[in-house]
Amino acid sequence: MLELVDVRSGYDSEEVLHGLSFSVPPGSVVAVVGSNGAGKTTTLKVISGLLGCHHGHVSVDGRRLSGSSTGEAVRAGVAHVPEGRQVFSNMTVRENLVLGAYAARRVSITSRLDAVIDVFPELVPRLGNYAGSLSGGQQQMLVIGRGLMSEPNYLLLDEPSLGLAPLVTKRIFEVVARLRREGKGVLLVEQNGRQALALAQQAFLLERGTITLTGSGEELLADPGVVERYLGVGTSKGSLDRQQDWTAALAGALVDDQAPEPANRRAIRK
Ligand SMILES: Nc1ncnc2c1ncn2[C@@H]1O[C@H](COP(=O)(O)OP(=O)(O)OP(=O)(O)O)[C@@H](O)[C@H]1O
Ligand SMILES: [Mg+2]
Repeated sequence: MLELVDVRSGYDSEEVLHGLSFSVPPGSVVAVVGSNGAGKTTTLKVISGLLGCHHGHVSVDGRRLSGSSTGEAVRAGVAHVPEGRQVFSNMTVRENLVLGAYAARRVSITSRLDAVIDVFPELVPRLGNYAGSLSGGQQQMLVIGRGLMSEPNYLLLDEPSLGLAPLVTKRIFEVVARLRREGKGVLLVEQNGRQALALAQQAFLLERGTITLTGSGEELLADPGVVERYLGVGTSKGSLDRQQDWTAALAGALVDDQAPEPANRRAIRK
């Protein structure tokens, strides 16, 4: 079980998450919906250790994370797939994938590659190509595949279908369903709220850093207020821009724990 217990966090000047508590059981999809700026991405950053919390904690399978490094979460079995499909453009698809395997420091990179290719056979003909040459959909598959290379038990997906064509989106959601069937816990932040909720065993509405509604995906879908106000809002441009500085930090964490920290990593202190 991935658990957040009364997590408060934010950035230098502002508390953004005001005491979040929820859990992601293995073999389930938990969806998060909420308007732009509600704190969805911030929640994922806290779980993966990109951002510290100044109150409360995150635990994975009963082990409390110190939140002091991104490598710690990866080793505990959490893979964060940030929004924005950030691949290393001038590395090949295979190199991008292999980068995701280093964190665990176990051998069997080949078998991990085989497992990822089994999930995304579309990548096979592109393994030797530069990642920058892939289509948006292929890049999304690649970043999810890179996350899977650490053999996570929990996957954090931030807006995986943003800007993708409906057929590719369908493919991504099929993969999410498959990963859940295989026993992974998936925390899914999605602008395609309807599809995410349709897939989710549990869901919650995040408003200004506070959970204001929880239920099954179906229950939230049946709530006219949720549908009217929060589904299909998309992500803000500013939010996408902000992702650029921490993808490198995440990737660095896959190699070792000495990744440079983004300037805003430190939690605010009150
Ligand atoms: N690096 C940052 N520095 C300062 N404030 C930030 C930073 N990143 C996010 N924020 C602020 O934190 C709040 C929550 O942002 P967050 O990106 O978590 O929202 P979100 O729910 O993911 O929104 P979106 O739907 O646009 O992706 C917003 O008020 C935002 O302005
Ligand atoms: Mg976001």
